[in-house]
Amino acid sequence: MNEKELYDIAARMRKMAYCPYSHFSVGAAVLTESGKIFTGCNIENASYPAGICAERTAISKAVSEGERHISMIAIAGGPEEAEGIYTPPCGICRQVMAEFGGPSLQIIMKKGGELVRYSLAELLPESFSL
Ligand code: THU
Repeated sequence: MNEKELYDIAARMRKMAYCPYSHFSVGAAVLTESGKIFTGCNIENASYPAGICAERTAISKAVSEGERHISMIAIAGGPEEAEGIYTPPCGICRQVMAEFGGPSLQIIMKKGGELVRYSLAELLPESFSL
C-alpha cells in the first residue's frame, strides 16, 4: 500500500460523509502497522459538537477492531460535490493520532494537486501524553 493508493481510498470515502450542516466532506484512510486498512468519513449532528471528523472515525474503527498501532493516515476533504482542497487535520484529531500513531505517524494529504507527507512530530510538536 503506497501513499497514493491510501490517499485515493480516502478521497473515495468523501462520498460517505454525512455533512448537512457544513457541506464540507472529508474522507480518511488509516494503514495499521499490521497492514490493515480502515476508512472513515465525517459524521455531523444537529447538536454540532456531537459531530466527529473523518480521521477519528477511521481511527476508532481500527482501535475497536483491535488495531492500536497506526503507521499512516491519508486525508481528503473539500466542499461537498467539489474537488478536494488542502485539508490538514484539526487539533483534536492530531491528539488522537498521537495516542495511536506516535511522532513517526505519516500523514498524507493533497496540496495544490500534489501529495504531501508530514510526520505527526511536524504537525503536533511537544505533544501531551501520560
Ligand atoms: N473535518 C474533518 O472531518 N476532518 C478534518 O480534518 C477537518 C474537519 C470535518 C468536521 C466537520 O464535519 C466538517 O469537516 C467541517 O468542519
